[in-house]
Amino acid sequence: MNPSREHWTSRMGFILAAAGSAVGLGNVWRFPYVTGENGGGAFLLIYLGIVFSIGVSVLIAELIIGRATQRDPAGAFRKLAGGAWPLVGYMSILTAFLILSFYCVIAGWTLAYMIKSITGTILTANSEAIGAVFYAFITDPLEPVLYTALFIGLTVFVALGGVASGIERAARILMPALFVVLLVLVVRSVTLEGAGEGIAFFLEPDFSKVTWGTLLAALGQAFFSLSLGMGAMITYGSYMQRHDDIAGSALAVTVLDALVAVLSGLVILPAVFAFGAAPTAGPGLTFITLPSIFAQMPFGFLFATLFFFLLAIAALTSAVALLEVVIAYFMDESGANRKKVAVSAGVATFALAVPASLSLGVMSGFTIGGQVLFDALDFLTNNITLPLGGLLVALFLGWVMKQEGEEELRDGSALAPALVGAWRLIIRFIAPVAILMILVNGLGFI
Ligand code: PHE
Repeated sequence: MNPSREHWTSRMGFILAAAGSAVGLGNVWRFPYVTGENGGGAFLLIYLGIVFSIGVSVLIAELIIGRATQRDPAGAFRKLAGGAWPLVGYMSILTAFLILSFYCVIAGWTLAYMIKSITGTILTANSEAIGAVFYAFITDPLEPVLYTALFIGLTVFVALGGVASGIERAARILMPALFVVLLVLVVRSVTLEGAGEGIAFFLEPDFSKVTWGTLLAALGQAFFSLSLGMGAMITYGSYMQRHDDIAGSALAVTVLDALVAVLSGLVILPAVFAFGAAPTAGPGLTFITLPSIFAQMPFGFLFATLFFFLLAIAALTSAVALLEVVIAYFMDESGANRKKVAVSAGVATFALAVPASLSLGVMSGFTIGGQVLFDALDFLTNNITLPLGGLLVALFLGWVMKQEGEEELRDGSALAPALVGAWRLIIRFIAPVAILMILVNGLGFI
């Protein structure tokens, strides 16, 4: 183990930091609306099935690569295999950077909505009016850009503290806070009059609407939510202590991530049904439907403020992980210090975030493959590079780093002997075949 490399202070510290990375906008903002668009209960079941088979196995694989090499994703593949494999690392780092740029834009909206909830400007009962306010806000050339800058500033601030006293400390404070707020909101939502219909929509599966597109949506969501396929868990794994338990920690992180997704579904979907809104509203579900619901509740401004605060916290610990992928790469490869790298990476992120934000408004005439930059970045990462990254990691552990991988997994883990057989089967056969089939069919290649 490289003694000068930064490490988490304990196994618990790692679990919290990794859960902080996993739990984010993906769980609270994206998961409920993707579930709403994909028919509810059946999607939930498919999603959980993927998360607890392919998801947790690829998570274990990424942690193995990180802990074994104690390097950034590109350096890790170079150290283990050479050849073309480091390209997987480079693709991961680029993907992390691309995701970060639009992630910070949405995270900026959550900061804005936190403030707008306090001042009450978004809380009118008429959802058409709220929709108009939302679109006026996100297409404005200046306001969302300022909030994006503020959010990137917060992210860089946490990163400057380093692995233990920045990232881990933030997660230790913010993750429990997030849980408390989430539980308060679940209780509020499921006790609303008429919540039952939303709960049924969310929990009762109807498989008649399931298509390849549904499977791709569930797969992409699983990778995005668990922070897989783009080097974040390789990077966080590289800060693990030599004998930290990989399998147990991976399982804990997966359970926490799935739990927050399910709880978020229980906040949003019952409220949507209770107030007669449509669950298929898409990305606007959180920013349009919810405020109109909060506006109709007693003390709605308080719940709205709490909710957007929750979203901002969740986004912050995730953005920190995305930025850390880039930071670890430049620190490991060039030996530059954290401060210089973190600030430059923040500036570079902002430089791409600005056009991403403007692409929703003044720059919407400029499209890539028929999509504005913001949507193109989301599509390219979630539907292509994340599943591809996950596929390559699975192939790497299943077929290239076979023996060493299993030894690494057994080292320090009491759970490993019980899991290793199933893990091997998934990582070698099930995950590659399933990911490939879903990618090819979901993208409509055949
Ligand atoms: N997992 C985060 C979320 O659900 C997003 C993310 C992806 C964070 C990749 C880090 C790395 O919002």
